[in-house]
Amino acid sequence: MAVLNRAAELQEEVTGWRRHLHAHPELLYDVNETAAFVAEHLGQFGCDEVVTGIGRTGVVGVIKGSRGAGETIGLRADMDALPITEATDVPYKSTVSGKMHACGHDGHTAMLLGAAKYLAETRNFAGTVAVIFQPAEEGGGGGDAMVKDGMMERFGIDRVYGMHNMPGMPVGSFATHAGPAFAATDEFRITIEGKGGHAAMPHNCVDPIVAGAQLVSAFQTIASRNTDPGAPVVVSVTQFHAGNAHNVIPASAEISGTVRTLAPEARSMAEQRMRAIADHVCQAMGATARLTWRPGYPVMVNHPDETDVSIEAARAISGEAAVGTKLPPIMGGEDFAYMLNARPGAMILIGNGDSAGLHHPAYDFNDEIIALGISYWARLAEMNPAR
Ligand code: NI
Repeated sequence: MAVLNRAAELQEEVTGWRRHLHAHPELLYDVNETAAFVAEHLGQFGCDEVVTGIGRTGVVGVIKGSRGAGETIGLRADMDALPITEATDVPYKSTVSGKMHACGHDGHTAMLLGAAKYLAETRNFAGTVAVIFQPAEEGGGGGDAMVKDGMMERFGIDRVYGMHNMPGMPVGSFATHAGPAFAATDEFRITIEGKGGHAAMPHNCVDPIVAGAQLVSAFQTIASRNTDPGAPVVVSVTQFHAGNAHNVIPASAEISGTVRTLAPEARSMAEQRMRAIADHVCQAMGATARLTWRPGYPVMVNHPDETDVSIEAARAISGEAAVGTKLPPIMGGEDFAYMLNARPGAMILIGNGDSAGLHHPAYDFNDEIIALGISYWARLAEMNPAR
């Protein structure tokens, strides 16, 4: 592997930052201490500009290169943790009960800070680098908030790149692919109204549990019968609440869950089918359904040219064999999608080795990959062409 010497030298210092962030997790937009930590370090590195409060608690640092004029590229990390109680015994374990960095955003933030330090020292690139630290990736749409706050225009960002760690991928490996890479993540909630009564006299009732059970089954046909088998759609019912006594048929039931799609047509098809199935199945059972559809993150689509650039940068660090270029789409969501809808760019995954999975209470970001991540960011910046 060809990590940059300076990145290897920074490994220990950046590991310290990573572990500090790990011990002090913050959720969603409430990343005030993390953002202050980031802004303070960016200032110490001698960034040309450090702006806080973008998209509420996002931070952007601007670093101008010394190799002539060129585009401004945005390098993005996420700062927020998850509402999970940590189940590790590491010395830098979360000090906040019920919150932990279980998705590695502590590592993402630390690696991008390390890259910012390197880039501010060396300036061996054309154009400008904007390092972007966003809040609220875990369901709060912080990336959207920064875009809506005018970040792209304000800093003249032409292209934007992201990186996320992936457990199970070997240390030293990277993977990406052009096109849809993360799914749209919509939520649904259905209230079924029936008619409650004595469990021994079902003929005098309209049982919302029986209607709901039919709905759960019928929803499976959205993926299995309404979708092109080559285009993945996930429909998962994750909650079904009804009743509170063994001898009472309840008056209502609630079902909720998530729908994941990779294309706008599939997304609207799934919503339409879900509404039709809920209405008509419940009607057939004598009940009524009220469906609320809450759109989540859009599909995250990697742009082809920028995906090629990210592959080239990763290959320069890890060699051709360690960079996967045909990563199958992941049906999880990623709010970097909003930045990729605003500007061309690409996200790459970096192997976290043999760790617990993302969002698992025993997960920990792997500090061994810090120099690799810094080197990837540095390489991307140094590949920025002069104009
Ligand atoms: Ni994440």
